[in-house]
Amino acid sequence: MPEAPLPARSIGWGVVGYGWVARDYAAPAILAAGHRVAGICDPGAAAREAAARAHPGAALHAELGALLRDPEIEAIYVATPNHLHRAAVEACAEAGVPVLCEKPMAATLADAEAMSAAVERTGVLYGTAFDQRHHPAHVAIRDAVHAGAVGTPTAVRIAYACWLGRDWSVTGEGDNWRADPARAGGGALMDLAPHGLDLTDFLLGDPVQEVAAVTQRRVQDYAVDDGAIVMGRTRGGALLSLHVAYNCPDALPRRRLEVLGSGGMIIAENTMGQDPGGSVTLIGADGARRALDVPDADALPFTRQMMAFGRAVATGDRGGFSAERDLHTMRLLQRAYAMDPQCP
Ligand SMILES: NC(=O)c1ccc[n+]([C@@H]2O[C@H](COP(=O)([O-])OP(=O)(O)OC[C@H]3O[C@@H](n4cnc5c(N)ncnc54)[C@H](O)[C@@H]3O)[C@@H](O)[C@H]2O)c1
Repeated sequence: MPEAPLPARSIGWGVVGYGWVARDYAAPAILAAGHRVAGICDPGAAAREAAARAHPGAALHAELGALLRDPEIEAIYVATPNHLHRAAVEACAEAGVPVLCEKPMAATLADAEAMSAAVERTGVLYGTAFDQRHHPAHVAIRDAVHAGAVGTPTAVRIAYACWLGRDWSVTGEGDNWRADPARAGGGALMDLAPHGLDLTDFLLGDPVQEVAAVTQRRVQDYAVDDGAIVMGRTRGGALLSLHVAYNCPDALPRRRLEVLGSGGMIIAENTMGQDPGGSVTLIGADGARRALDVPDADALPFTRQMMAFGRAVATGDRGGFSAERDLHTMRLLQRAYAMDPQCP
């Protein structure tokens, strides 16, 4: 995906679901991208009160219909729990409003297929919010790989883990929908593996085609998996090893990305996540190490993402956004779960 320049014009956004990621990352990123938060929809009174404080100029709604009827709204960002993505995206498609929906695309493959069909039928611009494509370190790694820095890529190895207890919540309000199979669609595998699968495609320019997986319910007291290992192979033949977990204390090293090739290796530590930063090391085939230059290292991934989607809205050029590609990722996730008879 090309670097997003400053937007040609300011886009009026509607935010659907004003919880953790919308409040702390996406809505600030919309403003930082030079756009406007024109409206916010959330059935929760506390969420609407928080939205009113942070965005006094935004129209507040308890349901999506009113937001979609507002002529100020040119794009929608969906950040509800996973099982509600489908209804929001289908409503946007019917209303003809471009929609950027949080990952995973949906809680089930059937929902994702319906979403993909709706945006294809209506021609509405759709993107899944894979913010890690826009992390400056990941853009630099992709460019280095494409320039031959590791020779022929042979494997991507990712560890992406965190601690998610039964009662986890950022705001301290509400219940933990991530621990509910019906609302989340799965556990650590459903929540965290989409980033690794999508990032592998982004970094290598080569989508993961085959997957196998094992899951565990080892530590946490809930009905979804709290850890999983996915192994995969890209269309071009590179291997993927992806460990995701909800049972890893946050103070441990837990965010590591490696691209291994016939002529070298890139190691990124603490780049995976919502924030910029982390370190990237390039190791030559002779073992010599140097830091990889990361242009605009402090740029915020969410801001870059909103700039890129705003540019697609303003120009009609879909850029790197593709419902078909993201549906493929959902198919991989379903196949990964189906591999493991132990999983919920
Ligand atoms: N890209 C990332 O790095 C990233 C990070 C965190 C979360 N996410 C994704 O974002 C989504 C939201 O996660 P979160 O952690 O912010 O959840 P959250 O529980 O903190 O917030 C969800 C919000 O949606 C609201 N909501 C519920 N039903 C709604 C409806 N019908 N219409 C509008 N709003 C509704 C809730 O009241 C709540 O305020 C999930 O899909 C999650 O996977 C992505």
